[in-house]
Amino acid sequence: MKALVLAGGIGTRLRPISHTIAKQLVPVGGRPVLHHCLASIARAGVREVGIIVGDHAKAIAGSVGDGSGFGLEVTYLHQPEPLGLAHAVVVARSFLGDDDFVMYLGDNVLADGIDELAAGFRRDRPDAAIVVSHVADPTQYGVAELDGAGRPVHVVEKSPTPPSNLALVGVYFFTPLVHAAVRAIKPSTRGEWEITDAIEWLLTTGRDVRAYEYNGHWTDTGNVADLLACNHALLDLQQGAVDGKVDTESELIGRVVVREGASVSRSRVIGPVVVGTGSTVTDSYLGPYTAIGDDCRIDRAGIDSSVVLDGARLSGVRHLTSCLIGRGARVEAGPSTRLVVGDDAVIRVER
Ligand code: TTP
Repeated sequence: MKALVLAGGIGTRLRPISHTIAKQLVPVGGRPVLHHCLASIARAGVREVGIIVGDHAKAIAGSVGDGSGFGLEVTYLHQPEPLGLAHAVVVARSFLGDDDFVMYLGDNVLADGIDELAAGFRRDRPDAAIVVSHVADPTQYGVAELDGAGRPVHVVEKSPTPPSNLALVGVYFFTPLVHAAVRAIKPSTRGEWEITDAIEWLLTTGRDVRAYEYNGHWTDTGNVADLLACNHALLDLQQGAVDGKVDTESELIGRVVVREGASVSRSRVIGPVVVGTGSTVTDSYLGPYTAIGDDCRIDRAGIDSSVVLDGARLSGVRHLTSCLIGRGARVEAGPSTRLVVGDDAVIRVER
């Protein structure tokens, strides 16, 4: 079995961060989303991986390389325009050949891995398999309708009146039959070649499509709230490890990771927290579920439940909560509030 990882797309819902960084490279739990995805593919015993890339191709290749760091062999497949998930399968046609494959959306995190799902597909070998999970608000997701025996009857794209609360998780298993399906469909009203239409085609032509329920922790990190929730869930799983420097005037409580080359001085840190390589934290408070990237400067600041990307600086600002702070961004105190706000940014200030 091969893997097809989708790391193109536009990332509209994660703007402005996605203007300058591929959303699949935003770190959650101290590692890029895409690295979690590749690690779970490797753990499921797959070696050959095609990664669909678009505008951020160079940065993605810079972060993943040839895949050997994950025990994988990676081939990059350029999608000239993000024309939909089924279009990505068309782009990957020659890479996939006549092999079965797992298609994995590169912005999805399945914290408990895909080993059991992959084993189920290898064992049953249906024509295709979807993965579903119960969600509170199914209007935000593709949704599956199952019959009494748990077999899919229909799959629909985001709909205001979804037929169930079983969301489609961003992992699909296909046999080469899917190539006929993606050729048979037409673009949807939003102009995309939808994978749900390809699966619906398999269903209406009488193919054996199964649904596997995922009971582990799954997040589509496509928007800020879900990305922070994913960071929270992954930090909950981490163990503490101090490889950097922590002075005697600092207090570390709970599971705290201070990576090599990082330093914490005169600060209070309540885990789970990660402080990335080369970052300094001085006279500050880092609260639970905070992941600080590499080479950040946190000085007389207070922050919790947040993700801070590489090279950012926080200075003299307290009570920051549930923030996503971009690479090289500066948040600092001054005599008055002065903002330089990037396109599509959302800023919420304390009343
Ligand atoms: P989506 O989140 O559905 O699409 P998007 O990345 O354009 O984001 P938004 O809706 O916020 O504009 O994509 C799911 C994953 O698939 C994500 O990792 C991007 C990737 N993708 C492709 O590689 N090619 C495509 O044509 C599309 C639509 C998505």
